[in-house]
Amino acid sequence: MRGVGRALTGGHRSDCSVAAMEIREVAVVGLGTMGAGIAEVFARAGISVIALEVDSEALNRGMSVLDASLSRAMDRGKLAAHQQAEIRGRIRPAAGFSEAAAADLAIEVVPERLEIKRQILAELDRVCSPDAILATNTSSLSVTAIAAASKHPERVIGMHFFNPAPVMRLVEVVSTVLTRAGIPEAAADLARRLGKTPVLLGDRAGFVANALLLPYLNHALRLLETGYACGADIDTAATVGIGLPMGPLALLDLIGLDTSLSVLEVLAAEFGSPRFTPAPLLRRLTAAGRTGRKAGRGIYDYVDQSVAAADQEGNGAASAAPDTVTLIGSGDEAEADLAGALASAGINVTRNAAHPTDLVLVAAAAARPVLPAALSSGRPDQAVGLHVPGGLGEGNLAEVVRTRLSSEAAVESTAALACRPGPAKVLAGLQAMHAAYGYPAFAPPLLLAEHAAAGLGFAKVGPAH
Ligand code: CAA
Repeated sequence: MRGVGRALTGGHRSDCSVAAMEIREVAVVGLGTMGAGIAEVFARAGISVIALEVDSEALNRGMSVLDASLSRAMDRGKLAAHQQAEIRGRIRPAAGFSEAAAADLAIEVVPERLEIKRQILAELDRVCSPDAILATNTSSLSVTAIAAASKHPERVIGMHFFNPAPVMRLVEVVSTVLTRAGIPEAAADLARRLGKTPVLLGDRAGFVANALLLPYLNHALRLLETGYACGADIDTAATVGIGLPMGPLALLDLIGLDTSLSVLEVLAAEFGSPRFTPAPLLRRLTAAGRTGRKAGRGIYDYVDQSVAAADQEGNGAASAAPDTVTLIGSGDEAEADLAGALASAGINVTRNAAHPTDLVLVAAAAARPVLPAALSSGRPDQAVGLHVPGGLGEGNLAEVVRTRLSSEAAVESTAALACRPGPAKVLAGLQAMHAAYGYPAFAPPLLLAEHAAAGLGFAKVGPAH
């Protein structure tokens, strides 16, 4: 897309006098979570910042967010006191647009409403020098539609930062068919100066990152509202199972449910596919003002730090692992693995459903529903599926698959089984198998022997959160 803006702007001058190094002062308009973060990023890079909020309460709030972020960095030993003071000294809080007159670049970071953004662009047009670059941090609106509000749309560009702005490295530099040649490159150079990685894009719904990310987040909400799994477990599946830094529901709260809704609406309007249609829960929570961390409540509750999910399932107390298990599988490797692990943990395993046992465990597989196997056992209330993606191993995700008929006790018992195999039992099982079969794979590792001797477990007690 890089050449599109340039190719269609034939009438504009092709040289550009703007160089990133000449950008010494920027105005950040809007000091919400993102605006405060972006102001911090500029100031950390040695650039003077006019932090602008016309509402004085919002200005104070934004400056507190920024101060808290710098203090946290200092507490963590990432900033010395004099550095904090220098960074803070580069930021000038301002309550009127006229203060932005000296800015070489002004970026708006106000709520995702086109009419507000267009008003801000018009104000900036009025006060900023004709050479200044005007940028928008919009995550969902058309940069072209915003630029069109400016008398000089050729100097308007998208600079889309990610949340938390001081941490996330990507900046999407979005040009329109109106953007003057040289402006995207200057914005990209500036992003590099900030220690970020720019990507140059055309103006398309969701740009790139949100077009990829939001359908996934939306899907996670649908899983939550259809009772597929509880919130904590959906997030655990993403962090422990896929290795993402944060689960999708926690990420929605970080981004803001209102922002996420706006992005999805734009994607749905542009592409029309049902996967972009916002999950009803997203609309309800947004309408209820539960917009995420910034509001203290979203999918999770941050007010009392208890992180209570919007649903309350899956938070049962830890219960005892079973001593006897009926194992049902399809004779595949997953079943054999599970049988081996149960035996190693000192649990009596039978394949005969008629034998009374504490639990019926179904070796679950992705394409095989658990319910038929649970029904075939004759004790569906005691039956739960267990699936360990990637095989059994320390630290792996264990998916406990409940059916509509599974009792809470059976689910908790399976969770306890997955979480607490008991090093001493595992050690004894492995020693016995090593003695019987002599395979090196059964030789108990030293760490296991140490944990067994010390009476220490490997996993947290209770369902993984
Ligand atoms: N502001 C400033 N710094 C922050 C911060 C914040 N809000 N949150 C965390 N940090 C810093 C911490 O100070 C810490 O810094 P050091 O390593 O220098 O000490 C570092 O980030 C790691 O933080 P923590 O140890 O507290 O926590 P963590 O390791 O769990 O990381 C996280 C937290 C960085 C948020 C991480 O969970 C993460 O990367 N999550 C995914 C975030 C993500 O995907 N963001 C993109 C969202 S999409 C978007 O924003 C676009 C849009 O338009 C919707």
